[in-house]
Amino acid sequence: MKLSGRTEDGQGVPLSDVWYIPFLNPKAKERVGYPTQKPVLLLERIIKIATDAGDCVLDPFCGSGTTLVAAALSGRTYIGIDISSAAVKLSAERLRNPMKSESHLLAVGEEGFREKSDYERRILKAIDAIPVERNSGIDGFLRRFVNGHPVPIRIQKEHEDIETAKRKLITASKSKKCSMMILIRTRLEDSSQLFNWTDDNILVIDAYDLIINSWLEKQERRNKPEQ
Ligand SMILES: C[S@@+](CC[C@H](N)C(=O)[O-])C[C@H]1O[C@@H](n2cnc3c(N)ncnc32)[C@H](O)[C@@H]1O
Repeated sequence: MKLSGRTEDGQGVPLSDVWYIPFLNPKAKERVGYPTQKPVLLLERIIKIATDAGDCVLDPFCGSGTTLVAAALSGRTYIGIDISSAAVKLSAERLRNPMKSESHLLAVGEEGFREKSDYERRILKAIDAIPVERNSGIDGFLRRFVNGHPVPIRIQKEHEDIETAKRKLITASKSKKCSMMILIRTRLEDSSQLFNWTDDNILVIDAYDLIINSWLEKQERRNKPEQ
């Protein structure tokens, strides 16, 4: 499901129904030690969707004042209420210098965080595998488990020989306690090494485009008129 959010300029923006907002790390500069403190980024997003610039935001349970800080940073006015005088004092202090911790993930966006190419995504989709982002050895996992363990997949990279791809897959799989693995070959020049393998735990298969292209090239060579 996609939701539509409202931006400052009134344009609709497609939003996923899952928001990737990192938790407040212990060293975040906006952290004030309030036990239920939320990230400013979260409140800022809610405020920008629900209000227009210049609107007034009311938080009758303001705690450490995160909503009020997010409102101030978003060009809204604000009113905060809290039964605890310590909370009111803390909110007032924060509002003297409203700040938020930036997030690399949010800065680059969900799409920017993903490093899989369209080609790799298509390969994983074709075998109904779930993509894994930012892992140096594993590109995805089969949905199906074997003996209670996941089955990792690696797609051979453009400038990678098949032995290197295999080694990276095995190393990454060990830490996840996976014994069955799938390696997808995307280049032909390694075929001599490929069939010497005796490892029963690794299934090596060729990507569809590799099979098709090598078949087409073979046909072309066969049908080429003699010079
Ligand atoms: C979950 S905290 C809010 C935390 C806030 N979102 C933040 O980021 O810091 C709820 C706050 O409601 C306040 N509260 C509880 N009962 C209240 C009441 N009857 N009237 C006003 N504030 C109340 C508590 O003191 C507490 O600070």
